[in-house]
Amino acid sequence: MEKFEKKIWLSSPTMHGDELKWVTDAFDKNWITTAGENVNECEKLVAEYVGCKYAVALSCGTASLHLAVKLAGEKLYGQPKPNQGTLQGHKVFCSDMTFDATVNPVAYEDGEAVFIDTERDTWNMDPVALEKAFEIYPDVKLVVLVHLYGTPAKIDEIKAICDKHGALIVEDAAESFGATYKGKQTGTFGDYNAISFNGNKIITGSSGGMFLTDSQEDAEKVRKWSTQSREAAPWYQHEEIGYNYRISNIVAGIVRGQMPYLEEHIAQKKAIYMRYKEGLKGLPVTMNPYDENNSEPNFWLSCMLINEDAMCKQVRGEQDALYISEKGKTCPTEILETLAKYNAEGRPIWKPMHAQPIYRMNPFITANGNGRARSNAYIAGNGAHDVGNDIFRRGLCLPSDNKMTAEEQDRVIEIIRSCFE
Ligand SMILES: Cc1ncc(COP(=O)(O)O)c(C=O)c1O
Repeated sequence: MEKFEKKIWLSSPTMHGDELKWVTDAFDKNWITTAGENVNECEKLVAEYVGCKYAVALSCGTASLHLAVKLAGEKLYGQPKPNQGTLQGHKVFCSDMTFDATVNPVAYEDGEAVFIDTERDTWNMDPVALEKAFEIYPDVKLVVLVHLYGTPAKIDEIKAICDKHGALIVEDAAESFGATYKGKQTGTFGDYNAISFNGNKIITGSSGGMFLTDSQEDAEKVRKWSTQSREAAPWYQHEEIGYNYRISNIVAGIVRGQMPYLEEHIAQKKAIYMRYKEGLKGLPVTMNPYDENNSEPNFWLSCMLINEDAMCKQVRGEQDALYISEKGKTCPTEILETLAKYNAEGRPIWKPMHAQPIYRMNPFITANGNGRARSNAYIAGNGAHDVGNDIFRRGLCLPSDNKMTAEEQDRVIEIIRSCFE
């Protein structure tokens, strides 16, 4: 088989032309700063789309999550002492299988992340493990929940548990912008919500993110914190620590130009997911699952999980991986290397946070109890604990670029099939 002449990306930006129009408009009006029509318009468009009252555009999703977590910390524990974060010493329950930007803001605010294992139905936070975590740490008052790869988590179950224990939710909808749960947009379920416009997301501004809320007070606070916490004085007057987190009017112009294409991108991503589902039939694999009755993902990334009995031997160190090829079997490392050989980009599943060197000492709670107490033991199959590590070990993200043609995707599928021969 020939190599792809043009690289098949995991998920690259898809521009349409309107973006440049709004960037040029900013140049023409000389609004080359962190304010301007593009900033106001993209906030308005996103708030209208998701159905929330306020959207505050920031430099990235991480900044949005940071200020979301800081607001939650202030609400729960009051103003911190000087030089301390708002979560000083407090534990926070966090999704485990995610990108580290979901959980780092807890550390920025001096809190301690307690990682909650993943369930198999949506690859998100397991409500059973969350309930267990509240049994072990009944004083916890904050939960950070992600919707991985654009698939909504079990929101009703998680919200019910949080309500029962009086805990607030920070919702990380960075990857799931446009996805819905029972007809309602992700990014509107948490007490504090964040989305991202990073270059690989469903729509992009090259960078950028937004804090979403129905609370005018919270929106104003985030606006103020993100612009160095300036007080309303003629000079630079500061009563609180500030951040330079506001979005640029240039970046906002790109987001403004992308917004009309969000649904088109989702439809393309869904078609890619369905084509993989059909094309991989007969192989010992499953796709990343979602709750078909209650949710409509944005299908940002299509992923695949290899059945245990079709896994060849694979070991991963901190930076490298090795495998032993075996007839009829394969592993994520072999598939990713084979795709790369043909100039197509896949990626390993996001390595769970509890397994990251930086967070290895943090508590980790599984549906079966304390995951740390059962160290290294992940048992495949439905009774498994450490589900996250099991999905990391057997799963991979497939090329999911919305500019990939059906013919190109058929070839990607053929390459994957060849790994099982
Ligand atoms: C789940 C998740 N949370 C947060 C972020 C952070 O967003 P950003 O890159 O815009 O800071 C990302 C992506 O980058 C993400 O995938």
